[in-house]
Order: sequence, then C-alpha cells, then structure tokens
Amino acid sequence: MQNDKEMLERIETLRQQLANETAATKEAVEELRIKYLSKKGLIPALMADFRTVPAELKREIGQKINELKNEAQERINALKESFESSDGDIDVDLDLTRTGTPVSCGSRHPLTLVRNEIISIFGSMGFTIAEGPEIEDDWHVFESLNFPPDHPARDMQDTFFIDRDKADVLLRTHTSSVQTRTMEHTQPPIRIVCPGRVYRNEAISARAHCFFHQVEGLYIDRNVSMADLEQVLLGFARRMFGPDTRIRLRPSYFPFTEPSAEMDISCHICGGKGCALCKGTGWVEILGCGMVDPNVLKNCGIDPEVYSGYAFGMGVERIANLKYKVKDLRLFSENDVRFLKEFESAH
Ligand code: DAH
Repeated sequence: MQNDKEMLERIETLRQQLANETAATKEAVEELRIKYLSKKGLIPALMADFRTVPAELKREIGQKINELKNEAQERINALKESFESSDGDIDVDLDLTRTGTPVSCGSRHPLTLVRNEIISIFGSMGFTIAEGPEIEDDWHVFESLNFPPDHPARDMQDTFFIDRDKADVLLRTHTSSVQTRTMEHTQPPIRIVCPGRVYRNEAISARAHCFFHQVEGLYIDRNVSMADLEQVLLGFARRMFGPDTRIRLRPSYFPFTEPSAEMDISCHICGGKGCALCKGTGWVEILGCGMVDPNVLKNCGIDPEVYSGYAFGMGVERIANLKYKVKDLRLFSENDVRFLKEFESAH
C-alpha cells in the first residue's frame, strides 16, 4: 500500500526536478520526454502506484498527478519549439564583428546630371519646367511652328511615323512642340524650359542617334528683345562652362523664329586660341535660338501686337559631350557600367 504522504512528496520532487531540466539539443529534449512521459517513464510509474492510493484520497492525488503530467508535456513542447524556431543548430560561425558585404550604390546617368544642371540654371532665372508628349501630331511639331506641309525644312528633321498610313501621328523631332502646347493654354508672361527626349530617323553613329535629348526654352512677355535673350544665354553659358566663357550669335534660319541665330561659346578647352575640339576656330556651337515668329504666336492664340518673345533649344548630349569630353554619342545609351561609373563623383 502506497503511503499517501510519500506519494505527495514524490509528486512535488518530480515537479521541481522537471522545472530545472534543460536541453541543449533536439535529441536532449527527446531524452527528457522518454524520461518523464514514455510508457516506462517517471510519470506513468507514478500513475501505476496511484492504484494503491486509498479511495478517499484518489481525487486529490489524481488531480496532482494530472497537473504534473500536463506541466511535463508543456515544458517539453516549449523546449522542442525553441529548437524548431532557431532551426535546431546554434550558428557557431556567426561573427558579429565581421565587415558587411558592400552594397554598391548606383549613380545618376550623365545625361540626367547635365539636364538637371541646365534646368537648375534656368530655374534660378525664373524659368519653370513644362513637359509634353513624345508621340505627337503634325500641328504641334510642324504646322503651328511655321512649317507648311511642303516646307523643305521638314526634311532637316527626318521623322518617325507611328503608323504608315497616318501622317498625323509621329514621334516628336524636337521639344519645340512643348512651346506650342504651353502657349495654346497659357497667356503671357510665359517663362519655361522643356526638357525631353526627341526622335529622328538617322543612321546611328558616333555623332548621330535616332533618339536624343533636348531642352527648349521660351519667354513671352511685353517688350521682350533679342538683348534679353543674349543676356540670359550668356548667364547660362558662364554657369555651365565657367565664368570666363564668351558667347557669339551667328545668323541662322529656323521656321519658328525671326530673326534666328546659332550660339557659339568660346572654346572651354583652349580658351579661344584654337584646338582640336574647336577645329582651330576658338568657338564651339551649342544651341539654336531666336525671336519667336509672330505667326507662331498667332497660331497659339497670343497677340503678336502686344507680346513678343524669344526661344532657344539645345541638345543635352551636345552639352554633355563638351562638358565631359565624350567623343561617342552611343555611349549614352549603351549602359556600359564602366562608362556610367565615371560620373559617380559628378553629383
Ligand atoms: N528645334 C530646333 C531643333 O530641334 C532647336 C531650336 C532652335 C529651338 C531655335 C528653338 C530655337 O526654340 O529658337 O534643332
């Protein structure tokens, strides 16, 4: 006959013993389970002895044994789970003092850098940004800008058409189309720069590509003169190419400006003495410009008797070539990381 006091003591001892158990591996947890809960384990042995407990104590002692069994089960489950969540093994190779794997950072594309610089120079002179679609219609790219349907100047800009049968849906050949779009819905004063990609059907070479980037400028107000244009462009050239830069305007022709000019800067490599870059002339061409033709203002609903304005347009690749001495246009679109990495420090 099992002494009931002795039975209670055995239960208590086992409880304490269980509370102190630890396990360093999954296998050790399994050993604990066998020790306490398997058929021949300590708790089933307790249950076997329970049969000899006097009837009046069965309730109290039975309850205690059940509690002990549940506690053992919970403890073993908890130990098991702790190994499952850490995958069982402690990572002895983990060295928290080791230097991390370097994460390489991208850099801005040179054309983005140059475009941003152009925009920020004109931004500081009060120009805001205007944008327009790359897929355009004939009116905005040509007709409104004074290119009549059979005008020979259309040949200067070999156009890509989206659909063979629709001459009216095309890829813009210049960002001058954004001038028209803006003037159509804004009354002066207008002072904008229009950055964007343009397309021309040209054979790809070191000096030409079928797409490139431009920044167009437009200022329309009362009493705007060519002198205003010249001063703004001089300010731009000096900030872009250095404070000693000089400019000159050469007469030229564009259908949408009258008079029209091309602007040269004094060669920033030789300072104007003559070198390979400026082909000995001391000057390099950087943009086209002029006073907006009154017809263009009329086409866009602006009264040329009241308002006048100037416009200019430059190629971003051209400016980037001069600034960073890039000799081959194709480099800008080939995504060769060795080339792109050269601009990491230019930010
Ligand atoms: N649109 C001309 C081109 O693509 C560039 C240009 C020249 C823009 C003179 C102008 C300008 O606004 O006044 O070649």
